[in-house]
Amino acid sequence: MKKEEKRKEKTPSESETITTEVVYPNDTNPMGMLQGGKLIHWMDTASAVCAQTHAENIAATVSLDKVVFKHPAKIGDIITIKAKITRAFGSSMEIYTCAWARKFNIKETSLINEAYFTFVALDDNAHPITVPSVLPVTEEEQHFFEQALDRKNAKINKKDNDHI
Ligand SMILES: CC(C)(COP(=O)(O)OP(=O)(O)OC[C@H]1O[C@@H](n2cnc3c(N)ncnc32)[C@H](O)[C@@H]1OP(=O)(O)O)[C@@H](O)C(=O)NCCC(=O)NCCS
Repeated sequence: MKKEEKRKEKTPSESETITTEVVYPNDTNPMGMLQGGKLIHWMDTASAVCAQTHAENIAATVSLDKVVFKHPAKIGDIITIKAKITRAFGSSMEIYTCAWARKFNIKETSLINEAYFTFVALDDNAHPITVPSVLPVTEEEQHFFEQALDRKNAKINKKDNDHI
């Protein structure tokens, strides 16, 4: 199949990624609560699909910020993960990812986790390469887009100043 030429800018909804998981006993701690590491793994995978769809390239996770475990998920819960790009810079992309839990017989969902992932698109030699810009459409996308620059600058300052 012929590859299309990469576009210069794309909207967040073009790469939005939604995945569904079910919490099984192997995913939980002795109290039957979903393990944090397992949830982050699912969120990282959804975020990677989102970043790679936007970049149309392989992208590696470079950082993970503001991770908050708000509520526990339990065995049998259905977990929906949504990953959406907020902004792209040069080679890096910020993805806002949130996870929601619900019981199979209850429509109500609760937000259990949210985080900002940063991915860097890499060429075949694992060197960073430029990605398309993000064109925010909705008011919410515009809000995330503007705030992403502050988060990026804060990360650059932190990177320059310390090791952790
Ligand atoms: C991703 C990686 C290639 C970047 O290398 P680097 O030497 O920092 O590259 P650069 O300095 O050119 O930075 C590339 C981009 O990453 C961003 N970046 C680097 N460190 C960052 C950090 N800690 N947080 C956020 N962004 C960061 C830079 O700001 C730059 O963004 P821009 O191009 O949009 O301006 C390198 O850090 C790496 O290989 N990390 C390991 C990735 C990995 O193994 N992930 C887990 C498996 S997927």
